[in-house]
Amino acid sequence: MALPGFRDFYPDDCAFRNAIFAKWRDVAQRYGFVEYDGPPLEPLDLFTKKSGEEIVTQLYYFKDKGDRDVALRPEMTPTLARLVTARHKDYKKPLKWFSIPQVFRYERQQKGRLREHYQLNCDIIGEAGLEADIELIALVIDVLRTFGLTEKDFVVRLSDRVFWSDFMERHGVPEEQRYAFIQAIDKSEREPREKTAEKLGPLADEVFSILDQGGASERLDTVETGLRHRGLHDYVKRDFTVVRGLAYYTGVVFEVFDRTGEFRAIAGGGRYDTLLKNLGGVDLPALGFGMGDVVLGEILKKQSKDHSEIRTADFYVAIADELYRPQAMALVQKLRDHDDWTDYPIKPMKLGKQLEAATERQASYICIVGPESLEGKVQLRMASYKGIKVVPIDRIFDYLPIENWTSPEADASTS
Ligand code: HAM
Repeated sequence: MALPGFRDFYPDDCAFRNAIFAKWRDVAQRYGFVEYDGPPLEPLDLFTKKSGEEIVTQLYYFKDKGDRDVALRPEMTPTLARLVTARHKDYKKPLKWFSIPQVFRYERQQKGRLREHYQLNCDIIGEAGLEADIELIALVIDVLRTFGLTEKDFVVRLSDRVFWSDFMERHGVPEEQRYAFIQAIDKSEREPREKTAEKLGPLADEVFSILDQGGASERLDTVETGLRHRGLHDYVKRDFTVVRGLAYYTGVVFEVFDRTGEFRAIAGGGRYDTLLKNLGGVDLPALGFGMGDVVLGEILKKQSKDHSEIRTADFYVAIADELYRPQAMALVQKLRDHDDWTDYPIKPMKLGKQLEAATERQASYICIVGPESLEGKVQLRMASYKGIKVVPIDRIFDYLPIENWTSPEADASTS
């Protein structure tokens, strides 16, 4: 059995996962993002320095045989920051990069939360203007629209970290209490008000009135207008409870939720303009989001929006008699060289059983290799069509697709 919180991917699960990856790639590329990757194992301090307390308590870490402290990546952003700071001079700004890493967090296992997941990460680096925030939020919306989800299914909850840092500044919240203050706001939705009030102290009433009635943010005004121009405004809602658990965010932040409130966050992200400077001394503004495959998969399954396809065989090459196996194998190779998915009986089998196997693999075409093969010919038929033709092997592709054949009766005769 797999470890708790880890998944096995049987072929159906893999097909489902790959269909998600394919759409992720497709939309990211449509927005002009290019793919990168990094190692799943990193120096421990890459994360302890930058990810924020919550993630650090969830790290899988150990000493490797060279006595290094290492950790499995719990998120991609510090790795991306490391990659970019090391070679930023080689690339024109802004960078629009995406990746689909598997990430690991030792979390309490619950619905929508496992100990490993795959996460689409899309980040824009080197652009401080809000047009980049709009582009990124449009992208997260379009990723979900590609799966057939609409504004009735999900909402992007927009917030502004600067709003809260200004608030704390204005009210003299000491530096060392700020992280806890932000965390209290983050958790306020899931906790009774009295508990949050206790954490917020004398500022509780003012905070609650902002959470209930909203607050002013020119940044969010601009982002909302930009999304309105793209016809995507119905997908977003201002919500100051969203502050994001990670330590590095500095500006507009957002989280994406299903409208029913049944699931955990589908995606989250925002601006982190100081991370690259703090990590690698390179002053580049940045923003991005991560979208996991777990919650998204649960929502798609609930809505019966399974986009996966298990590819079926193009050809099944049946062997009428073991005598003709060499000719059959030459044909198998020819079909595969032609990029067709081709299967055949790996060990001797009755012809009837072979035809059953062809049906099971949903092969479009069946070739039966018999005595004609000694003269370079093969029987060709289509699973869903009764006609059979004996065709020259070296011209087999001229006879396809079989739908073009005239009438079944005429084709039943040897050509
Ligand atoms: P995050 O909010 O920690 O952000 O994770 C992003 C998404 O990953 C979540 O909304 C959720 O869908 C998924 N996720 C997180 N933890 C788990 C889990 N234990 N099991 C299943 N799914 C999970 C980040 O990781 C940021 N680094 C995103 C980012 C990229 N910010 C800027 N660029």
